[in-house]
Amino acid sequence: MKLSIYGAGRVGATTAFAILEKRLFDEIVLVDINKSLAEGEAMDLLHSTPFLKRTIIRSGNAEDITGSDVIIITAGASQKEGETRLQLLDRNVGIIQKIADEIKQYSPQSIVINVTNPVDVLTYVLWKRLETDSAKVLGTGTILDTARLRSLIGINCQVSPVSVHAYVIGEHGDSEVVAWSAATIGGVKIKEFCNCCDRKNCLGLEKIEEEVRNAAYEIIKRKGATNYAIAQATANFVESILKDEQRVWTPSVLYEDIYIGYPAIVGRQGVQRIIPLQLSREEEQKFIHSCEIIRNTLRQLKA
Ligand code: LAC
Repeated sequence: MKLSIYGAGRVGATTAFAILEKRLFDEIVLVDINKSLAEGEAMDLLHSTPFLKRTIIRSGNAEDITGSDVIIITAGASQKEGETRLQLLDRNVGIIQKIADEIKQYSPQSIVINVTNPVDVLTYVLWKRLETDSAKVLGTGTILDTARLRSLIGINCQVSPVSVHAYVIGEHGDSEVVAWSAATIGGVKIKEFCNCCDRKNCLGLEKIEEEVRNAAYEIIKRKGATNYAIAQATANFVESILKDEQRVWTPSVLYEDIYIGYPAIVGRQGVQRIIPLQLSREEEQKFIHSCEIIRNTLRQLKA
């Protein structure tokens, strides 16, 4: 199995390391405009393989992605302190278009996973340019936001996040929506779970939602970027696809005429089925608003 990763910066390199530890691939190629960085990261990762699995890890150019089973895109500018993800669009759209052309030329059969923000808009741009099956072009969407939500509910409610089923849907960004009406802990609706909870220092669902939405801003303010959680989210998503686990994730998927974070069953060939999530009226309105933000951004791009 072969993986190519565009972008050898913090996110790309951390993602490569997280995936290497899962022993999924026989070859990993790092492609970056900064060739020295890609070479250095490939060398460092290669030296870790005696502790993991024999894997060919090298830096390369566009033609070196040939025959990739999976291609992950992390290349481009990332948020600076206080910057929204949508504000990255002008700097990153050209990079995504160039990468799409290279994938189309050298490895059109790959499953493509975009991480570069604004992830929903750029995954749509990628899909349109690749002119391929939308099931095989995905973004990390709100996978990370859903993980943040489950981890914070777990801490707050003193339960493993593995036993929390809750989704963040919509834009991977300020307009994202927590589907509280579909959230459960151990199969119990979260609001019923809360009613029979006597914890004194409960954060409350609103505060949890706010912390999820602002997580990236708070981390960037402190360390300048986010990388570990998005890398783990991407690595586990790739593993789930390759093992055909048919798990439900919230990647950025084709939804009507846009790409946006929504629950979908994902298997070896990518998106299998969109889950018909039952939302409250308020959540439905918020999701429609989030869709409109993506739609309007795409309209401006085409203008
Ligand atoms: C974050 C980046 C991946 O939310 O958008 O950390």
